[in-house]
Parts: sequence; structure tokens; C-alpha cells
Amino acid sequence: MKKLCCIVGARPNFMKIAPIMRAFGEDANTITPILVHTGQHYDESMNGTFFKQLDIPAPDIHLNVGSNSHAMQTADIMKRFEPVIQSENPDAILVVGDVNSTIACALVAAKSNVRIIHVEAGLRSFDRKMPEEINRILTDQLSDLLFTTERNAEINLLNENVSPEKIQFVGNVMIDNLFHNLKKTSEVNEIIARNKINIDPVKGYGLVTLHRPSNVDDSGVLRQLLETLSEISRRLPLIFPVHPRTAKKIEDYGLNSLLESDNLISTPPLPYLDLLGLMSKCKMVLTDSGGIQEETTALGIPCLTLRENTERPITLTEGTNTLVGTDRNKILEVSDEILLNGKCAGRVPELWDGHAAIRIASKLKNWL
Ligand code: UD1
Repeated sequence: MKKLCCIVGARPNFMKIAPIMRAFGEDANTITPILVHTGQHYDESMNGTFFKQLDIPAPDIHLNVGSNSHAMQTADIMKRFEPVIQSENPDAILVVGDVNSTIACALVAAKSNVRIIHVEAGLRSFDRKMPEEINRILTDQLSDLLFTTERNAEINLLNENVSPEKIQFVGNVMIDNLFHNLKKTSEVNEIIARNKINIDPVKGYGLVTLHRPSNVDDSGVLRQLLETLSEISRRLPLIFPVHPRTAKKIEDYGLNSLLESDNLISTPPLPYLDLLGLMSKCKMVLTDSGGIQEETTALGIPCLTLRENTERPITLTEGTNTLVGTDRNKILEVSDEILLNGKCAGRVPELWDGHAAIRIASKLKNWL
């Protein structure tokens, strides 16, 4: 039996670890996973509901770090994870995605001579102002086995001198999770009633998420984005589940009045199944999330990405994603086009077939 410490910390990690834990569970004779939760996200709406809805086992170890500046948060995770590595003495650690918990635990493992497996390796926005880009580059340099979701990722890794034998193209665990849960979602009518969202779903609606520091930390950018969303909402009602970071900034900058329009309807962060249910039936999504660019591509729903770049270029070349940045005219132009012409053509990328986690588990069996 091989012991594998699997790390989660923030909301987008939970969707990725769920199918991986399930795949390990199906072959319990080879790998003993130890689930470590850093506690980077801790609110019930950002954490607890995801564990319940995605059937993730309760963490074996909780580091309870909470929120802080990047340096403090990363350092706290490292300080608390080092004793775990020492006492558990795992054969390897498995990290997912690109959040601070990912790099913090990878650094501790590397210095303890414990092997590192990175799931969702090689994605690059080529924008080092994004904290996640730093986390991605460094985690990939430290990793011994790198599982990729798309072929561009392998090219990026080779360009950074990662040896080809470490790289395995397995597909996208986030999409495993989506396909596994799609059948469990409720009807839109039930979702909007449960979350007290006052729209008429027959007339159609859009979905908005916003949390990147580059979009929400600057009051001018945030104001302009909210004004643009408000303008779109006059043509298509928009449901806007607000991330805690964004809620705090809206409050700090006194922008609450921009959320009072009848058709731009803000809610607290939604549980995964409700968000997925709404996303699968909406006319379009406006987002700065990474995962949602992939989920909309898998669902065939038009996505406007409110960023200048993306680390997930396959969603642009093959999927339903369009980069619109934060410019009001560009956002209005593309959203008008979608409202006029309906769905945009796209296809589901190679190996986004719901079986990525099974491929990971089977490759790990030999590798470990
Ligand atoms: C983090 C990830 C980001 C990911 C996002 C998804 C990093 C560098 N960023 O960003 O890649 O897309 O998660 O949500 O790791 N807060 C709460 N409750 C919580 C968690 C956070 O209120 O449960 C608030 C706190 O005020 C905190 C702020 O949100 O300071 C930001 O949280 P943090 O984890 O630092 O970054 P995110 O913006 O969530």
C-alpha cells in the first residue's frame, strides 16, 4: 500500500479532488489517500457545502489557516504542513490547481524529499501579475509527475525544460466532476426558489462570477464592470453569486447601489449543484473564473471571460469561450452578438470525457 497525501485548500480544489478520491476508492488496495485540508477557504458557502454535495470524505487532517496576505497565508500553510509530512511520511503528495495551498504544500514536500504529483499542470496565462501564474510555474518546476488537461500544457512545460517523461496527458478532472454531478441538479425553477432569486426563467437569464484581484481590487475597474453588467441586465437578467472577496470590495468602495438594479440579481456564493444547474440552462456566462471557462465549454454554453488572457486557451480555440477583457464596448458587443445569434459553436476538447481521474489512478498505481 502506498500512502498519498492529497491536498485541498480553496473552492476550486474541491471539484478537482472529488473525482480523484472516488477513483482511489474504487481501487482501495493500492493507494491509501490522506486528505489534508489547509483551510484556505473556510466559510460554509465556500467549503462545507462542497464537501457535502460532492461526496468528498471529511479531511483526515485540517490545518485551519484561514485568510491572510499571500506571504502570511503561504507561510502558515508551510509551517503547519511540515509536521504532517514528518509524521505521516507519505510516499508522495498530490496537489491540484494553482492556489496558494498548492505551492505551499509542494514547497514543503520538495524540501522533505517527498515526491510531488501535480494535477492540472502546465496551464499558463503568461501574466505574472496573477498570483496563480506564479503558483503554477513554481509547482510545475517542483513536481515529479505532471498530469495535464490539454495538449498546450505539455508544450508550455517542455518550453520550461520539464522532462517529457514526467508529463502525462490525462484530460480534465473538473469535467469528470461536472458530468458526474449534472444529473443530480434540480430544475431551474426549484433552484431560483430555493435561493430566492427573483427572475422569470422562461425569459432566459445569464450568470456572472467575479473575484480576480485584477477585476475587484481596483475600485475603478470594479465600478466599470458592475455598470456594464447592469447595462446588459436590461436586456438579459443576470444572476450574480458574489464571492466574499468581491462582496467586501463592493462594500469598501461604496458600490452597493450598482447591485440594486432589478435585473442584476446578487446572491451569496451558491452551492455547486445549484450553480451547475443554473449554468447548464443559461443563455451566457460572464466570468473571470478559470474553472467556469472549462465547464461552459463542456456544456456548450457561451462564455465571456472578463480578463485579458487565459491559461486555458483550448476553451477559446475549440470551446465556447471569448476573451473580452474589461472594456465596456467589447463586453457589450460580444454579449449583444450572443443574444442575437444564440449559442456559439464549440466542441468538447480531447479527453474531457469524464474519465480523467480513473486514468490518473491507474497511472499512479505503477508510478508509486
Ligand atoms: C483563491 C485562489 C484563486 C481561486 C479562488 C476561488 C489563491 C492565490 N487564489 O482566491 O486562485 O480562483 O480562491 O475562490 O490561492 N474569504 C472569506 N471566506 C472564505 C474564503 C475567503 O470570507 O471562506 C475572503 C477573505 O476576506 C479573504 C478573501 O476572501 O481574504 C480572499 O480569499 P483568498 O483565499 O485569499 O483568495 P480568493 O480570492 O478566494
